[in-house]
Amino acid sequence: MSQQVAGVTLRDVQRPVAAELEQVVDELRRLIAAHFPIASEVNEHLLRMKGKLFRPTLLLLSSKAAGSTDTRANTLAAVVELIHLATLVHDDSVDHSVLRRGLPTINALFSHQIAVIMGDYLYSRAIIELVKLDDREALRVLARVTNEMTVGEMRQLEAHDKLAYGESAYDELIRAKTASLLSGACEVGALTAPPAFRHALARFGMLLGMAFQITDDVLDYTQPEAVTGKPSGLDLREHKVTLPLIAALARLPADGRRVVERLMNAAEPSDDLVAEVIRLVEAAGGLETARRRALDLAQQAEAELEVLPPSAARDALQGSIAYAVERRS
Ligand code: IPE
Ligand code: IPE
Ligand code: MG
Ligand code: MG
Repeated sequence: MSQQVAGVTLRDVQRPVAAELEQVVDELRRLIAAHFPIASEVNEHLLRMKGKLFRPTLLLLSSKAAGSTDTRANTLAAVVELIHLATLVHDDSVDHSVLRRGLPTINALFSHQIAVIMGDYLYSRAIIELVKLDDREALRVLARVTNEMTVGEMRQLEAHDKLAYGESAYDELIRAKTASLLSGACEVGALTAPPAFRHALARFGMLLGMAFQITDDVLDYTQPEAVTGKPSGLDLREHKVTLPLIAALARLPADGRRVVERLMNAAEPSDDLVAEVIRLVEAAGGLETARRRALDLAQQAEAELEVLPPSAARDALQGSIAYAVERRS
């Protein structure tokens, strides 16, 4: 990765689109507005939960970097964040997670039933807005992406033989459940730009998205909840096999594998067991391998930006790569 982008903050990345992002938050508020009980209470809670707005940032930067003059970019960016929000509400229910963005999840604060209904409510609001915009191409991209995300989440549930779960299955999973939306955000930002820019940005978003999810999976092992705003070690507790564990399993001796097996067979693994597996994964170099793989994908993402003309937005997209792999939350 280039030296000049090391140590980049989210603020640096968002600088060229800071004013637009404020409007995106207003748009989001408008899109989810509901005037009936529970839905309006859930909405209020959701608006208090502050996310990084990484996907809207990518859409707006892609739009600028590709020289697009689409005046609907702010609304499209809000729609993309709304789709993300809907998937988070469902994901936390599926993952039995109680903390998101430092606040209780919808399933924890309300119920799983409400999380299911609200996820659908939010997603259908996004579709209503896309139809209103009458932008067939944006609808096409985002409908496909959302479907891919559900397939990704399904794959995760269906992974039965945990210890045999391999790197290619993992790659396919993270491409579907996470990278597809980051790719879609970049592509939708560049829909009115020359096709070469649009396609390069779609590939950029895919590679960046994979690096982003690998980093999320590493942070699940390494960071406390006070930093990430999400429970720490939840992937192991939920028997989710991610790249750090896959990489470690290839090197663990038989007794280490038996400890992992014990965790995978425990309905509710103890904190000690989770901590022991984290130690084993770290010692076997699983975290290091995952970090290296994220950096490798980041480098490939960077190469996709070369077709774009130089601009502050392109520099920020380049910065977003460093941010995605160096972030702590
Ligand atoms: C969380 O996404 C879900 C993943 C794909 C890892 P973010 O890390 O972008 O979450 P927020 O939106 O900032 O809360
Ligand atoms: C990403 O996976 C989930 C979605 C793409 C919806 P995770 O389950 O790892 O995301 P977090 O860690 O809960 O944010
Ligand atoms: Mg989750
Ligand atoms: Mg995670």
